[in-house]
Amino acid sequence: LPRIAVLASGRGSNLQAVLDAIAAGALAGEVVGVFSDKPSAPALQRVPQALRWSAAAKTYSDRDAFDADLAAAVAAVRPDWVLCAGYMRILGGAFVERFRGRMINIHPSLLPKYRGLHTHARALADGESEHGCSVHFVIPELDAGAVIAQAVVPVRGGDDAEALAARVLAVEHPLLLAVMRLAVGGRLAEHGATVTLDGHPLFTPL
Ligand code: GAR
Repeated sequence: LPRIAVLASGRGSNLQAVLDAIAAGALAGEVVGVFSDKPSAPALQRVPQALRWSAAAKTYSDRDAFDADLAAAVAAVRPDWVLCAGYMRILGGAFVERFRGRMINIHPSLLPKYRGLHTHARALADGESEHGCSVHFVIPELDAGAVIAQAVVPVRGGDDAEALAARVLAVEHPLLLAVMRLAVGGRLAEHGATVTLDGHPLFTPL
């Protein structure tokens, strides 16, 4: 079975969607490790202890030192895919290059809009009528890798950031699963700015 390493900093609902799909026979893969920069992350509790790795980033001298430990731990589980599912710490270039082409992130905006943090509040502040989420290949530049798929939701009058985040999260889970099915099936590849599905380029919005 394709081996999936998951990086998560928080709640872990996207991780849970992956675990549930595997348990239901709807995703032909195996979660071989959950890795966190936050030892208290609830996401860690969603898998057995033997699958958990965490280290408090603030106890490290710098980003490279933390990334080196994380990379060693991730590499040790021999992942076919590295999934960033609510992983909130920037990964350095050396880490990204090591797993390039097999590392995927889910981001709560319609990229290239709203890279970085506080995406829902920023979409509301701009008066957007639509918002959503993107699943993309990870490259060293933050939230800038080639988009594989997106899901769109309406912004409704009276939405606050929390209401909008909940509406987006509801479409994150099925979108992520759809992409993960293609990924573990060996059907997706990254070629710089382009993603191919079965060798055919996918349209990527500019
Ligand atoms: C999700 O909304 C995900 O898109 C976002 O964090 C949340 C994690 O939820 N990711 C980012 O903002 C990445 N920069 P979860 O822990 O319940 O999966």
